[in-house]
Amino acid sequence: MKGYYIYTYGCQMNVHETEKLAGILQDRGYELVDNVENADVVVFNTCCIRESAEQKIMGNIGAIKPIKKNKKDMIVAVCGCMAQQKDMASNLRKKFPFVDIVFGANNIEFFGEYLDTYLEQKKFLNKVESDKQYTENIAGVNYVRDNPLYAYVNIMYGCNNFCTYCIVPYVRGREKSRAPEDIYREVKTLIDMGYKVITLLGQNVNSYGLDGNTDGVNFANLLKNIANFDGNFELRFMTSHPKDLSDEVIEVMASNDKISKSLHLPVQAGSNKVLKAMNRSYTKEAYLTLIDKIKTAMPSITLSTDIIVGFPGESDEEYQETVDLIKKVQYHNAFIFMYSKRKGTIAEKMENQVPIATKRERIHNLLEIQHEISEQLFNKMVGTTQRVLIDSENEKGYVAKAQCGKVVKLTKDAKLKIGEFYDVEITDYKKGNLIGNAKL
Ligand code: 5AD
Ligand code: SF4
Repeated sequence: MKGYYIYTYGCQMNVHETEKLAGILQDRGYELVDNVENADVVVFNTCCIRESAEQKIMGNIGAIKPIKKNKKDMIVAVCGCMAQQKDMASNLRKKFPFVDIVFGANNIEFFGEYLDTYLEQKKFLNKVESDKQYTENIAGVNYVRDNPLYAYVNIMYGCNNFCTYCIVPYVRGREKSRAPEDIYREVKTLIDMGYKVITLLGQNVNSYGLDGNTDGVNFANLLKNIANFDGNFELRFMTSHPKDLSDEVIEVMASNDKISKSLHLPVQAGSNKVLKAMNRSYTKEAYLTLIDKIKTAMPSITLSTDIIVGFPGESDEEYQETVDLIKKVQYHNAFIFMYSKRKGTIAEKMENQVPIATKRERIHNLLEIQHEISEQLFNKMVGTTQRVLIDSENEKGYVAKAQCGKVVKLTKDAKLKIGEFYDVEITDYKKGNLIGNAKL
């Protein structure tokens, strides 16, 4: 039996695309191995959102060199967003002559063909096609999903927003929505297979259908139709752009028990000047009004966000506005990043780049403030009832997850079933975990 090993970097989209790569490899008779040294095919599914991601990936690809030296037939492929960048394929090959196949973020589903061609010709293959859009062909590809309970489902690809710091629109191309029937079919199959949490994926799910590919079905319609499917499941989605999150979507979320009451709503910054320079198309005030609306419609909502500190030109005062904003909103979780210059983006050329020391100071400060907010909010959950899904059990008890993704630990006092939802009374918050008892 031949073995494969896949390194995955970056977002949920990549995690899901790795499931597709795994499907393609398994269809060809390869088996997952737990050590890269035993692999006949190694794939790097890459990310380029920040420079740190690229540096890490380059280091990991470099580490394959001595392994391949002892195993000449090993096939090394690099794909995904980092590979999709201009001139990257030839640069990669120059730097790492042992790389055999390079293909982009929009050609994942063709990996099988590339592999067949490589095996036949044994010649370096550059299959990065910048003008190629994603052509979803789900019927032909068998996803090998990593987890038996949680499933990702793509609803759209690409992004039209061109936030000035972001490389995604350049590597993933324009927005393209999948046909609603294909999505319904996939979700129904997953529910029948026993998946319990379905997460709809897209760079900007709220603009689903705006490309005219869905016969008039918008994101609110899609969400509502899926939430009405039979079965015991929970529906989530990401990522939402604040400028496109409609009242209709909030209403659908609020009125459907199957839709998770947790929402990721990246704000990026708290200053209107910075938001404008980022091309985010909303003001701090509009964002806060949206948050109010969401909290009024769903008082139990848990919110999370993405924030960039040190965007070009961000002054201390403007940074303080981000601090004020996170204190106001009260996110359960925030992913905080230092601005990283990305080649080809508009912000790359902006003057007033913020020194690294200032960025470091801001990120440490903000992480600390956010940590305190999170701790307070999770402590406040003590005494509430949370719907959780049991993931696993060990000697001490059951391990579950709340809708916001937080781990909830349950004792073994009552017999519970893995893969079932339970309402749980939260009794404590300790060492970053919620503790509770199932209400039976
Ligand atoms: N530098 C730092 N963070 C970035 N993000 C996107 N581009 C950059 C960049 N150039 C962050 C944004 C986005 C998240 C996925 O990554 O916060 O929401
Ligand atoms: Fe990047 Fe902005 Fe698109 Fe998100 S919405 S992928 S941050 S360009």
